[in-house]
Amino acid sequence: MLKSVVLYYFSPTGGTKKVAETFASRLSKKVDLVDLGEKKLLRKNTENDLAVVAAPVFGGRIPSLAADKIKTLDGTGKKAVSLVVYGTRAYEDALLELNDALRESHFQIIASGDFVAQHSIVPDVGKGRPDSRDIEEIRAFADHVLDKIGRLEQEGAEEKEIKVPGSRPYKTAMKITDTPISTSSCTLCGRCAEVCPTGAIYIDGNELTTDVRKCILCMSCTHVCPENARVLPKALQEGDDKMLSPLIGVYRENETFY
Ligand SMILES: Cc1cc2nc3c(=O)[nH]c(=O)nc-3n(C[C@H](O)[C@H](O)[C@H](O)COP(=O)(O)O)c2cc1C
Repeated sequence: MLKSVVLYYFSPTGGTKKVAETFASRLSKKVDLVDLGEKKLLRKNTENDLAVVAAPVFGGRIPSLAADKIKTLDGTGKKAVSLVVYGTRAYEDALLELNDALRESHFQIIASGDFVAQHSIVPDVGKGRPDSRDIEEIRAFADHVLDKIGRLEQEGAEEKEIKVPGSRPYKTAMKITDTPISTSSCTLCGRCAEVCPTGAIYIDGNELTTDVRKCILCMSCTHVCPENARVLPKALQEGDDKMLSPLIGVYRENETFY
């Protein structure tokens, strides 16, 4: 096991965090969590043996909020493992984009993986994932990474660059034209505004507004709402349900590269 690991993650609805924490806690008893979705500035220069960096897949990419924050880290002389978590459809350029961001921050990437979690817009897709089989695979991947770190520490161990699927230029980023809305059961408790990673939700007196220019449709507000009052507009939800319904019952395999 490693002495300590820092885990940088963005996880609006918890799937990415579950995958990444399962992985990181197999590597070390001491996992320092850094939530890239928090509005405050990132702590820098934490001392640790390895950085684990995890992001969800949005439209075949990683959310720009996560990419931008990762690029502000200083990975000089540090090893990293990259993880993307997606909702069964496809991860496309996301893992490549995450690795490019890590390289821009001078991290040395020693392993990468893509894992499946329940789809945060259409939960019947990949329902219940990561499941017990995923958890076993994530732990086995962590064991391979520990072995690899051991090998790299031995003198003369050869290191090769980790190659992952994806292409440049990346797929065009998703265009956001609609945001979640609050139904009449909204009590204006403000939890949604608190967790929104981009500060897109405002409460003014009895009125709640969402700024479509800031919203990234991450679903953190719908996930946290204690009244289930935060939902996608009907047409958007129905459109996604229709597009993704062929994937209900499809079991996509996880992949690892090391
Ligand atoms: C706006 C948005 C776009 C998404 N795009 C994709 C995608 O391109 N491919 C895919 O397989 N899953 C996609 N998903 C599903 C998420 O990647 C998946 O549910 C992931 O677990 C979300 O991470 P979280 O649970 O940490 O919030 C998307 C989800 C959202 C909210």
